[in-house]
Amino acid sequence: MSPFETVTQAPADPILSITESFKADPNPEKINLSVGVFVNDSGVTPVLDTVREAEKVLAETNTTKSYLPMTGNPRYASLTQTLCFGDELAESLTGKIVTAQTPGGTGALRVAADFIKGNLKTKSAWLSNPTWANHKGIFSAAGLDTNVYSYFDSTTLSLDYSAFLESIMSIPSGDVVILHACCHNPTGADLSPEQWDEVANIASAKGWLPLLDFAYQGFGLSIEEDAYAPRAFAKAGLPLFVCQSFSKNLGLYRERAGALQIVVNNAEESTRVASQVKIAIRTNYSNPPAHGGAIVEAILGDSQWQTRWTEELDAMRNRIHEVRRQFVNALADAGVSRDFSFLKDQKGMFSFTGLTKEQAIALRTDHSIYIVDSGRINVAGITSDNLPRLVNVLKEILG
Ligand code: LMR
Repeated sequence: MSPFETVTQAPADPILSITESFKADPNPEKINLSVGVFVNDSGVTPVLDTVREAEKVLAETNTTKSYLPMTGNPRYASLTQTLCFGDELAESLTGKIVTAQTPGGTGALRVAADFIKGNLKTKSAWLSNPTWANHKGIFSAAGLDTNVYSYFDSTTLSLDYSAFLESIMSIPSGDVVILHACCHNPTGADLSPEQWDEVANIASAKGWLPLLDFAYQGFGLSIEEDAYAPRAFAKAGLPLFVCQSFSKNLGLYRERAGALQIVVNNAEESTRVASQVKIAIRTNYSNPPAHGGAIVEAILGDSQWQTRWTEELDAMRNRIHEVRRQFVNALADAGVSRDFSFLKDQKGMFSFTGLTKEQAIALRTDHSIYIVDSGRINVAGITSDNLPRLVNVLKEILG
């Protein structure tokens, strides 16, 4: 008997498997609005100009392919801390932040989850309902129980702030609460600065641990405004985990560049925490991949490149805002019965359309339009070319 007889078929990944089906679809008019990847109006995910330039310089100046330290380069740590917390706050937190350069935001989440499970008294990880489809898998794989807190009203398709508050007020002390720092994935419904302040007060009063998934900095309002949540929590003196990704804002998807920031109470704590973070990394992937991180470091570490990168990021964000506007107008012009104007207010790449799972499946199988079963669409995947067909099909389905 084969040792693999007992292996059962795993369910397909709810996001990445849809892109696999999209790639296999021979229909020349197929549209992919599933995975969160930016495309320009020509349907291409570009390599940013600043990234290309940094890569040229790196190719010429790279002197070694030897290992990085387990937690990555110290310079990467300080540059990503500054991006996350801003100059002043990062400076004031010197000695109180443990940073690990990680393989993407997912790597940061998994290191955080392993660290929490191995070292804290946390019983449960609390996830937004709904949340990114991979959160539950990551925290469960680390051995934590998962629970959900209320977040979104699926009838009004907007944030249900009072239900959210009620939920997070009853989370036990010591549990970890996974919050989306900006551009909530999958709903695009974000908290206001005042609401974040209130949430930070609740975290402090109740004693649960905030963990901010920060994968879309710069895609909501701006690099600085999108960083309101990590800065508010850190200013409130709370212990904090932040999982940064540079997949989207630097377009480094396949290079796997991310960072885990853990804000602790003092330098002595940071030494102990860092030692355990190293164990989590060493027993998982040993040390981070270097190339993507070197690009991040080159761009964030050079003020001219940083300015140009900010402009490139602004252009990506503006395109998404413009697409939201055009999409909503085109749906209204086509006489689609449902009011989609809420899409204009949502932030980041994603919108929750309110389409049902059956409708999502019909879009894929009957029309080669690929969206996630939850009804989430990647607005950044809409182009001038595919917008008319998308609107016609939605009109056909929704009336
Ligand atoms: C998404 O939500 O589509 C992205 O975060 C990509 C992924 O890994 O799922």
